[in-house]
Amino acid sequence: PAPGWSVYADAVVVGSGIAGLTVALRYTELTPAGRVLVVTKDVLSAGSTRWAQGGIAAVLDPEDTPDEHLNDTLVAGVGLCDEDAVRILVTEGPDALKRLIDHGASFDRGVDGQLQLTREGGHRRNRIVHAGGDATGAEVQRALVEAVLAEPRIEVIEHALALNVLLDAAGRARGVTLHVMGEGARDGVGAVRTGAVILASGGMGQIYAATTNPPVSTGDGVALALRAGAVVRDLEFVQFHPTVLWLGEGSTGQQPLVSEAVRGEGAVLVDASGDRFMHGVHELADLAPRDVVAKAITRKMRETGVDHVYLDARHFGEEKWRARFPTILAVCREHGIDPVTQPIPVAPAAHYASGGVRTDLSGRTSVPGLYACGEVACTGVHGANRLASNSLLEGLVFAERIACDLAARDPGGRDSAEPAEPGEHDDRPDGLVDPRTRARIQSHMSRGAGVLRSAGSLAEVARALGDARWTPVAVEPCTESWEATNLLTVASALVAAAAGREETRGSHWREDHPDRDDDRWRAHIDIALGAKGL
Ligand code: SIN
Repeated sequence: PAPGWSVYADAVVVGSGIAGLTVALRYTELTPAGRVLVVTKDVLSAGSTRWAQGGIAAVLDPEDTPDEHLNDTLVAGVGLCDEDAVRILVTEGPDALKRLIDHGASFDRGVDGQLQLTREGGHRRNRIVHAGGDATGAEVQRALVEAVLAEPRIEVIEHALALNVLLDAAGRARGVTLHVMGEGARDGVGAVRTGAVILASGGMGQIYAATTNPPVSTGDGVALALRAGAVVRDLEFVQFHPTVLWLGEGSTGQQPLVSEAVRGEGAVLVDASGDRFMHGVHELADLAPRDVVAKAITRKMRETGVDHVYLDARHFGEEKWRARFPTILAVCREHGIDPVTQPIPVAPAAHYASGGVRTDLSGRTSVPGLYACGEVACTGVHGANRLASNSLLEGLVFAERIACDLAARDPGGRDSAEPAEPGEHDDRPDGLVDPRTRARIQSHMSRGAGVLRSAGSLAEVARALGDARWTPVAVEPCTESWEATNLLTVASALVAAAAGREETRGSHWREDHPDRDDDRWRAHIDIALGAKGL
């Protein structure tokens, strides 16, 4: 449909997690008269940030150095990180964290008043700051939402699904169309005209049947970027978190995370006989990088014909559990598991997209005027496998860079270029997908494009996704049909990338190509949507 209303903003941010809200706040701080519009598909506090448990990695211990954080990140990324991007992440990280504290976020401190630092998989130093024990994301989201609501130059539209980027004749992003549900005068389909569009819409975990991601993580930003002609990179590298609470056979949807910080504090993985199986797999044993642990668990499950292993932290005792991991303790008990007296049943589940919309070091995508930040982006810091607790950090650091880039380009806060007229380029994808397709996509993706993949399993998924695309039904444009459409677009691109990468590296595990192939594959897979699709 053609847009029924239109508004102007100097910049529009799509998404309201740590990346999007930090861009909005920093842009208004750096630009005296700048006005930002934040649009979010659900309410401001929905999204992945608030579910983050472990924390934010930053070099704060005087014994630690940026070079060590850099090295741990590069090792986890298995040869595919962009070293310049990682250097920026680790050197600019501590200041970005201080700005977050200035915005009101409060982190756990010791009796000496210093920030408490813990460890997670792949880190050789204690460098993870946390809040409320294991509720870091909730505190970060609370603080940022409060700061955004207190800033009159940031306007927010909730229940606003971003549909398509509006491009001018030169191919520059000039706005975005929105489908707003139930927000008064701005109800229905409308357009935001703007000098810059910043995608900060989070991840795509919902392409799988079991994921730690909330229901809103449907890959909208990647799908929208593909439709706008932007390049996406490394989609095949989906990280499976090794320790997700196992809720029983066939449990689907968002699953509760059991933070790596639990292992950082001494919990160990054991099989059904109580034997530790991470010794001998990696020198860091239970604290090996995430892909190594997820693979070891998957192997153990296959060997023993079971669908979960156990995380044993009984030795923490009630007091430590309550003080350090109150959220996980409560969630486990809600599900009938008492971690003080029982090992916790766990299995890997989809957690994080290490790839995404390709950006440069200022968050610019290949489409002028279109930026990407946070999980939706591929800045180059994660390579083939993100290091634990580098994701909130990436959101903070690159949000700052985007805000600086916008402020430098448009110091007055009002982009002088002529905004696009609403209605231009308001094309939809070839067909909206039936919302019921969502469950089919998820089940095919988990079966054939999950932790383990092969040419055969990926071809099977590609066939099933092709069938889903062409099932002819009349579909109402609504959030559910757009989400299903986006899931299908992103899943298809991911499967194409995973089929292309004929090696095993980081979180991409090909049964038919079990080794890493540095001669051929120390390279990225870039995808853009041509006129005929992928
Ligand atoms: C966790 O707490 O284990 C998750 C941390 C992360 O995904 O970086």
